[in-house]
Amino acid sequence: MRIEWLDLPDTLDQTRLPMPPTTADFLQVTQLANLVTSLFWGNNDFYVSPENQLAGATSREDVRTSYVVAREPLTGDRPDRIIAYAALSLPWEPGVSTDGQPTAQPTTAEVHVAVHPDFRRRGVGTAVLREAEAEAVRSGRSVLQSWTDNALVDPAAVGSGPVFVSGTSLETGLTPVVGTHPPSLPDAGRDRIRWQAADAAFAAAHGYELAQVEWTSVLDLREAAGAALLAESGSGVAEEHGYDLVVWEGACPEGDAESMAGLLGRMAAEAPAAALERVAEHWDVPRLRAEERARREMGLSIITTAARDRSTGRLVGHSDIETFADLPQAAYQGNTLVHPEHRGRGLAVLLKAVNVSQLLRLKPEAERLYTWNAAENGAILRANQELGFVPVSTHPAWQKRV
Ligand SMILES: CC(C)(COP(=O)(O)OP(=O)(O)OC[C@H]1O[C@@H](n2cnc3c(N)ncnc32)[C@H](O)[C@@H]1OP(=O)(O)O)[C@@H](O)C(=O)NCCC(=O)NCCS
Repeated sequence: MRIEWLDLPDTLDQTRLPMPPTTADFLQVTQLANLVTSLFWGNNDFYVSPENQLAGATSREDVRTSYVVAREPLTGDRPDRIIAYAALSLPWEPGVSTDGQPTAQPTTAEVHVAVHPDFRRRGVGTAVLREAEAEAVRSGRSVLQSWTDNALVDPAAVGSGPVFVSGTSLETGLTPVVGTHPPSLPDAGRDRIRWQAADAAFAAAHGYELAQVEWTSVLDLREAAGAALLAESGSGVAEEHGYDLVVWEGACPEGDAESMAGLLGRMAAEAPAAALERVAEHWDVPRLRAEERARREMGLSIITTAARDRSTGRLVGHSDIETFADLPQAAYQGNTLVHPEHRGRGLAVLLKAVNVSQLLRLKPEAERLYTWNAAENGAILRANQELGFVPVSTHPAWQKRV
């Protein structure tokens, strides 16, 4: 087994055979990533095309992702097969902060390990994780974080079925399904984690501590007309209280860009973080535009509903939904944030509901909307329940200080 860092290609060139080695390697990594998510979910709602995954690794200015892989020699003159990878993402704060000083670089690094099911429990995951951790330390990071898919508690809600993969040992590949009903909300947390699942056991074996528990919840969009109705009835109330609801797809309109950047800057500081180390983020219009460009390059389309305070003309809350053009059946809830001075007026649930209604209108082929929420974030979990989301899976965050 060889452990090495991948050279990422500028573009994927699949037009000639043999493919350039950097393209062939990256395709193997994305196949492994998609195998792991489809084995967990029993569907392909988390499929990421190689093009979009490459853009995700290379096109962002505020986070850089690199891959360390384990290779197993194949016989003959075929190139070695990639059997595992660790993806290391290093957040970077671009530019200068509000006081004009160069921005301090974050102390955190995010790592995600995937091992082909046929090669598990042989120390392969440990080998790639160690190399990724060493690189994080070399880059000046002292807090390692990872988010994992832990236990699917409601497979029926995501249309899960058995996944058959040629050459894969299903007994090691398939995620065990917990036969309990989803817990009543917001009662969720540590005791909901499936500690014997590979992700939790692996994290614990390497000194990572559980720092937060998130629920992955899903809304069946074929039955979400209720949310749309709620949206229509609520919009009038918002207007009576001095808010205009504005919606857009793609780039934020110029006139709202500055206050939108302000809202995005709050998200990192204000979303519940439990024991997770936070990374302060400074957002301005150039960063907003860079993020929009990166999303376009990743094939991500964003639908946004925002509330504009009529007295100041500024946006005071927003909710985003992301979709991939090449994955029509799935949609993913992005940020929802209401400025502290405008909370407690039902704006969050209204923004979410109106945005779901936009999604139904703009992407009628979407079947499921996924969302991730901290177990301690009772307000947003209750809002989701009201809209018809059901919790389907635990999504723990792990953290280790080095
Ligand atoms: C989690 C994962 C990366 C582990 O890879 P691996 O190569 O099997 O891990 P290792 O062989 O290096 O395991 C190291 C230790 O982790 C623990 N561990 C790993 N998998 C385990 C399992 N299924 N059950 C119990 N303990 C496990 C053990 O303590 C193991 O040491 P041991 O084999 O000497 O008992 C792999 O199962 C995987 O790819 N899962 C899907 C993706 C995922 O959940 N990634 C999360 C990690 S960021």
